[in-house]
Amino acid sequence: MEIFKEISPLKAFLRDVRKAGKTIGLVPTMGALHRGHLSLISASKAANDVTVSTVFVNPTQFNNPADLLNYPRTLDKDTEMLKEVRCDVLFAPETNEIYPTTSTIKLDFGHLDKVMEGKFRPGHFSGVGLVVSKLFHIVEPDNAYFGQKDWQQFAVITRLVEELNFPLKLHSIPTLREPDGLALSSRNLRLSSSQRKLATVFYRALQFAQQALQQKGDIKRVKTQVAELVAREDGVKLEYFEIADSKNLNVLENVDKANQPILCIAGFVGEVRLIDNMFLYNTNE
Ligand code: PAF
Repeated sequence: MEIFKEISPLKAFLRDVRKAGKTIGLVPTMGALHRGHLSLISASKAANDVTVSTVFVNPTQFNNPADLLNYPRTLDKDTEMLKEVRCDVLFAPETNEIYPTTSTIKLDFGHLDKVMEGKFRPGHFSGVGLVVSKLFHIVEPDNAYFGQKDWQQFAVITRLVEELNFPLKLHSIPTLREPDGLALSSRNLRLSSSQRKLATVFYRALQFAQQALQQKGDIKRVKTQVAELVAREDGVKLEYFEIADSKNLNVLENVDKANQPILCIAGFVGEVRLIDNMFLYNTNE
């Protein structure tokens, strides 16, 4: 695996890759890799000649300084994992390589960054859009891969690619789960073993809501029931549970299959903030 910490040697390497007529897949990450990230790498490897993974904890997308400070950093382990799955290139820059000066650019995605995560993490999607734009410019991939767990992020990046004419194709890869349903997340590393058990409540809530709504349950009532279900777990705090149109993220008040509704949930287990989501209907139906 080729490892780069600086932009210009990486760009020179990728120039040769492109000259040889090879395609490039990009898997951007913030490290603390788990099987979910590896599934993005394997999707990229299956469809591209060269896969580039990036490990960069992006400061501009953290609205909470404590969250940035506590975000797990495990670069040596990440490097070993990427070697094992035969990722071709790792780009792991220091902060000043990506932000040599304090960035002043702010991105506004309209409604897409005002609901759900956007409401609770002001500025988060501006930072995501900024770093992802930089990575797209640096790597110039043919394809880029993101996890479905961050569905709102995927909607924002889809808009970014459309509006800024990035010549690449985006792919959302289904969330991987632990056997008890907990969505794989780098943040799970921060949970104690008792918190780890409590954290499954978000998956249980999504499953309950999916079933209830498929059986024609009323959204308002289901929202109350989800809030009650989460409130029963000591040490867990619900931030939001919404049913949204998966394309434009409009929050829905009535279930209509045509909107391809997605159920989105977020909350805290102790100090650790987790998110999860689930399509209301199997999207292949
Ligand atoms: O999903 C993530 O890990 C991050 O938001 C991303 C896309 C790597 C940008 O920092």
